[in-house]
Amino acid sequence: MNVHQLRRVPLVAKWPVTPCRRASTKTPRPPKPSPKSSKPVAIKRRQATPPRQPPTLQSTQPESPKAETPKQGHGIPPRALTFLGISALTISTYCGYLYASYTREVSKAQTLDVPRDVSDRYNTTAATFDADVELSEKAMGLGKKRRDLVRQAHGNVLEVSCGTGRNLPFYELGERRGTDADGRAAVLGCRSVTFVDLSPQMVAITKEKFEKLYPAFPAVFKACDAGAVSPSDLQRSGVKNGEPVYFDTIVQTMGLCSMPDPAATLRHLGSVTEPKGGRILLLEHGRSYYDWLNRILDNLAPAHADRHGCWWNRDIGEIVRESGLEIVEEKRWHLGTTWRYVLRPKQAQKP
Ligand SMILES: C[S@@+](CC[C@H](N)C(=O)[O-])C[C@H]1O[C@@H](n2cnc3c(N)ncnc32)[C@H](O)[C@@H]1O
Repeated sequence: MNVHQLRRVPLVAKWPVTPCRRASTKTPRPPKPSPKSSKPVAIKRRQATPPRQPPTLQSTQPESPKAETPKQGHGIPPRALTFLGISALTISTYCGYLYASYTREVSKAQTLDVPRDVSDRYNTTAATFDADVELSEKAMGLGKKRRDLVRQAHGNVLEVSCGTGRNLPFYELGERRGTDADGRAAVLGCRSVTFVDLSPQMVAITKEKFEKLYPAFPAVFKACDAGAVSPSDLQRSGVKNGEPVYFDTIVQTMGLCSMPDPAATLRHLGSVTEPKGGRILLLEHGRSYYDWLNRILDNLAPAHADRHGCWWNRDIGEIVRESGLEIVEEKRWHLGTTWRYVLRPKQAQKP
């Protein structure tokens, strides 16, 4: 055996060419010895190999359970290959379908002339609003985010853009003594609650739900613009004539997307928030951290706004900065598209 033969023997033994077809039931012919390989060694090892077992070096090693499985040429069982093939075909067909629908929607969206104020859409979608958003809200875990926000509401509370009252289950009605998030003694819970929405159909749904949930607690419901809300107009309970009226907490969830001038509305809400301890609590949706997602939101925004009454590509952070309110807390989730803010009226500069 020369040097070349020495190199060839282990290579041939390690990587045999296994035929890619069903295993034959016929007794396999003993392999012909290669004229170039070392005759006694090669022939002896192959003859000792059981039928249908490729003559690999592994066969000389201790047997493992895997070694008993008949090996196909590529090592992937045909069933798995069929499954992978069907899956790949299904996924690529679905992606193709999504892409085709996306491009069709984008070109349709570009031809639409959608006004900035699309808030009237809610008058017609009010009856189906809950059913429309239920699944996506569940998938995004928005129930918990609503609860965590609304639990902070205390004192005289106003919820603007209340929609169909999706935050109602999370209010703690009635005041009680307790401790705040920093462990300090505080009065918790709501003394009074007021709900407003531009759409009378939406407010009617909130009122109906509230009266079922809290039949004994008085509340005010009004169809009006959040940008023009006035505490004295709302006949909030316990207000004496002539005294300045503020809300201790103002709540708004998913409302900035449907207003024609969201920064001006926030500014107005700041003016009716109790100047020292009052808070505005927001849970909103809008632009993402990522350009690729913002491009999709931008491309589909006119069609989405026209259908659902909501501009989903707004920069919520920019709107908040523009309002001039002070940011107490800011948080984002879902690739940056869900925004939570705790705001307060701008504090007077100390001399
Ligand atoms: C996307 S829905 C959100 C409803 C609800 N806040 C929620 O989280 O499910 C937006 C709501 O804002 C209301 N809205 C739009 N513009 C408004 C305005 N200027 N003043 C008060 N409500 C407004 C709409 O009527 C609609 O009910």
